[in-house]
Amino acid sequence: MGLARKDLLGMKDVSAEEITLILDTAESFIEVSSREIKKVPTLRGKTIINLFYEASTRTRTSFEIAGKRLSADTINISAATSSVVKGETLIDTARNLEAMNPDIIVIRHSVSGTPHLLARLVRQSIINAGDGTHEHPTQALLDMMTIRSRLGTLKDVEVAIVGDIAHSRVARSNIYGLRKMGAKVTVAGPATMMPRDVGAFGVRVCDTLEEAVRGKDVIMMLRIQKERQHSHLFPSLREYSARFCLTGESLALAAKDVLVMHPGPINRGVEIAPDIADGPQSVILEQVTNGVAVRMAILYLLGGGMP
Ligand code: CP
Repeated sequence: MGLARKDLLGMKDVSAEEITLILDTAESFIEVSSREIKKVPTLRGKTIINLFYEASTRTRTSFEIAGKRLSADTINISAATSSVVKGETLIDTARNLEAMNPDIIVIRHSVSGTPHLLARLVRQSIINAGDGTHEHPTQALLDMMTIRSRLGTLKDVEVAIVGDIAHSRVARSNIYGLRKMGAKVTVAGPATMMPRDVGAFGVRVCDTLEEAVRGKDVIMMLRIQKERQHSHLFPSLREYSARFCLTGESLALAAKDVLVMHPGPINRGVEIAPDIADGPQSVILEQVTNGVAVRMAILYLLGGGMP
């Protein structure tokens, strides 16, 4: 069974049934990565292009590994070393890639809505690997996989998302996905980093880190997205971390077995204390491991691979 859709553009239009299918499929792929020969023939003969206009370590690498473990041919293009630097437009780049007949294009771009434009333009499946401040659906799916595998369910799980909510595509995708799966989401951050329409998201909004994390099952800390801020939104990093850095003291307010999550990259000592990032409650590297399985599942379900 595959996904009855051409593209994965965001969590807003993905149903709870589709999320469950993706997570169940990802769990079935976990085992492949622990084999001596980490490969299945599922997508043999398929071609996947990773087209990244923004920097990435985790997403790009895990999409490449996921494609290779499914036996697809994977090609990485970064804008900095492509004909984009010679002035080629995104639309021309997409049309030229389409002419080479790949099966799936994975795109990351700083402009919100770019994957949606490509999905209308080309016949290939488009996967959004992060578009501006809009969505990062595969990150939300790997986060949900991590929570579900640790807690057994997403239903009624209490999640706090803390930091630069306004500029975070990770927060937006997680809010859409987690709420569909029955989790309860609280957000916190400086007022200048809260979306103006936060009231429409169906989340509880707190002013302080302490209030947000109290009694929570999961705490998701976010990096300040300086590259997307157009003015100074807080007086200094020292002031920000004094209010919104997760430390042992604030962590003690959460549920006893709370999961500490972060999509990465981490700014140690700014939004999360190093001993908490590396501590027993942290599942940050488990998120990264699950990222490969989730991306294998999405490539398989969109790519029409053999079971
Ligand atoms: N979480 C995430 O998207 O990390 P990268 O920017 O390294 O891909």
